[in-house]
Amino acid sequence: MFPYKVWTNRLRAEGRLLLWLLLLLTPLSATGSFRHKKLGPVVTPQTFRYILDDSAGHGRVFDGIGAISSGGATSRLLLNYREPYRSEILDYLFKPNFGASLHILKVEVGGDGQTTDGTEPSHMHFKQEGADYRRGYEWWLMKEAKKRNPNIKLIGLPWSFPGWLGPGRTDPYENITMTALYVVSWILGAKKHHKLDIDYIGVSNIFEFYL
Ligand SMILES: *[C@@H]1O[C@H](CO)[C@@H](O)[C@H](O)[C@H]1NC(C)=O
Repeated sequence: MFPYKVWTNRLRAEGRLLLWLLLLLTPLSATGSFRHKKLGPVVTPQTFRYILDDSAGHGRVFDGIGAISSGGATSRLLLNYREPYRSEILDYLFKPNFGASLHILKVEVGGDGQTTDGTEPSHMHFKQEGADYRRGYEWWLMKEAKKRNPNIKLIGLPWSFPGWLGPGRTDPYENITMTALYVVSWILGAKKHHKLDIDYIGVSNIFEFYL
């Protein structure tokens, strides 16, 4: 006769096995309800086959994987990391075929406004003031990225604007020419002072807030 203890141990082990099987099956059942938009039929785990087929035309171009340094302070601390840790983290982020190997780096165009975690400085605090392109840490980050991958794409986006761009009314799009000139000056400053080519530029974060 099977001793009682052995049975309970076995049942317990099988119970655990069943749990693992259920966990393993969860992604499969998720695949089961997946409907391929182009090919039509519902794919079940039994009929699922991975098909590489561009008969319906080529899909979207893969532009790469990117990361954002923004929100006022999300990457601020990296600058103060001790070496060699700082360089190691930068390598993991930007060095091609190594770590994250980022293809795109998007940075905040500082606007003197609190943009989630902190405030990034504008290159023009006041209208009368000459622009200063040494402020903040995004220039540094972009240069470190380019050093490791000269082909990395750079994107700039203002999350906020200094007050003088919405004179008295806090609407930075009140005079669109002035705001455009301000953004363009950031692109020109990047080239002139840091030898950085900005590939893409945005003019507004979460645009519907301003409509
Ligand atoms: C808008 O800004 C531009 C550039 O600074 C300026 O020439 C123009 O007079 C401004 N327009 C208004 C309506 O203030």
